[in-house]
Amino acid sequence: MKTTVKKTIAALVFAILLTPAMVMAAGGNAKLYTAPIDINDKESLRRGAKAFADYCYSCHAATFMRFNRIGKDLEIPEDEIREMMIHTRGSKGEPTKIGDTMEVSMTDEYANAAFGTAVPDLTLTARARGADWIYSYLRSFYVDSDRPTGFNNTVFADVGMPHVLWSLQGLQKPVYKTVMHGDVEVEELDHFEKIQDGSLSRVEYDMFLGDLTNFMVYIAEPIQVERRSMGWKVLLFLVVLFGFAYALKKEYWKDVH
Ligand code: HEC
Repeated sequence: MKTTVKKTIAALVFAILLTPAMVMAAGGNAKLYTAPIDINDKESLRRGAKAFADYCYSCHAATFMRFNRIGKDLEIPEDEIREMMIHTRGSKGEPTKIGDTMEVSMTDEYANAAFGTAVPDLTLTARARGADWIYSYLRSFYVDSDRPTGFNNTVFADVGMPHVLWSLQGLQKPVYKTVMHGDVEVEELDHFEKIQDGSLSRVEYDMFLGDLTNFMVYIAEPIQVERRSMGWKVLLFLVVLFGFAYALKKEYWKDVH
């Protein structure tokens, strides 16, 4: 009987732990870096939320996400969420509420004039592009004087987004190498060369991006955070239930043996 119990529990643990991870292949040819994602690391998610609020949310909306949901899932008190994220008013000038979704006031016309394209909503980007793509994209801006923003990107060629994190990352340019694909010579990115330091070291910048990407993975599927803690509760419940069932079975059969 004992081994059956162990096997049942092991099977349950496996079933829960192996809940399909949200990994999708990214398009394009650029090699992607692996994003250091840990959806259970609430400290990292909180830092990511702050980074998103400070550097991204001015242009990008996340319209399927509500402020108070972030507060609840990431255990951030309401007044802190307000201070960190809510700096806008509604279309009629009314203060934005904690239960509202994360809209931005920038119109598509304005964005088209400023960046040559609309600014995409970022709620589901981690599902569409994958965490590695986002992480690699944010690492791969480089100086290019031919572009209107002064920047280009090796993961997203001729991107309309300015490199909003340049003061943290510093400035870099790509160094290419020639590789043979069969008989054809192809230029491939070898590495980036720093041309000006930013306020963060390389390692710190990567950690900053890891937190930010982690947060974007979370907003794309917030139920993940809940599902994992729910999983353990369900397991505990099953174990207790099994204990009772086993005791009851022994009670019924004790006179028979
Ligand atoms: C100044 C406005 C602005 C800010 C601030 C900004 N972005 Fe962008 N972002 C854009 C624009 C415009 C595009 C569309 C680029 C294009 O299509 O060429 C874009 C595109 C993207 C994309 C690609 C989406 C897709 O699927 O094509 C991602 C990911 C992204 N931004 C992430 C971020 C993150 C993370 C931050 C904060 C660190 C941020 N952006 C800050 C303007 C901005």
